[in-house]
Amino acid sequence: MKKGLFITFEGIDGSGKTTQVKEFIRRLEIASIPFLLFREPGGTEIGEKVRKILLDKSNTGLLPITELLLYSASRYQLTCQSIIPALESGKVVICDRFYDSTTAYQGYARCIDLSFIERLNSVATESLVPDLTFILDISLLEREERIGNKDLDRLEQEDIKFQERVREGFIAIVKKEPERAIIIDGSKSSAEISDEIWGYFIKIRKGEYNDEIL
Ligand code: TMP
Repeated sequence: MKKGLFITFEGIDGSGKTTQVKEFIRRLEIASIPFLLFREPGGTEIGEKVRKILLDKSNTGLLPITELLLYSASRYQLTCQSIIPALESGKVVICDRFYDSTTAYQGYARCIDLSFIERLNSVATESLVPDLTFILDISLLEREERIGNKDLDRLEQEDIKFQERVREGFIAIVKKEPERAIIIDGSKSSAEISDEIWGYFIKIRKGEYNDEIL
């Protein structure tokens, strides 16, 4: 039975998600709160091998359903091997991306049937749902400025229309599940964002967050 808290971070590439994950764990360390941090795809030995296939830009022949199944395979391994046991032992578990990325990237952007993705997400997570999901949102223009000439991976190389659909996907998730998924304005300063995220975390830890929303 789950005792810990499961927090996920999502957003388009360049949204500042990973910076905020680092800031969040820094605060957990200061507060002496036991946690485990994972990333997706990856997070396990097998998952990291799958990650290499998924992000390798020479894999131009990867078909959309193959891509979807590989993300899901990595997630099932991570969920069963690491996330569920950590939650059962009462830890805070943080994941840099989880199934909302599949909904946004493979569902909204690759246009794979959303009800199929929903079922697959449920299988790949043993129906585990995050307690709180922070979705860092920036405009596509801001993304261009931030990413600049960086060496882009396979998904980052997709065109602007693809990235726009990913962003729309994340916004749709927030509309559908406002009690779990929170949109964070990624254009604010890093310190402001990290205060906002920490504020939500403290509330959910005290059990106040959902009461306030409901
Ligand atoms: P990262 O750059 O945040 O580590 O994520 C790796 C890339 O994989 C990123 O471009 C988003 C993409 N992705 C999907 O397309 N579907 C998924 O389910 C996940 C977890 C990531």
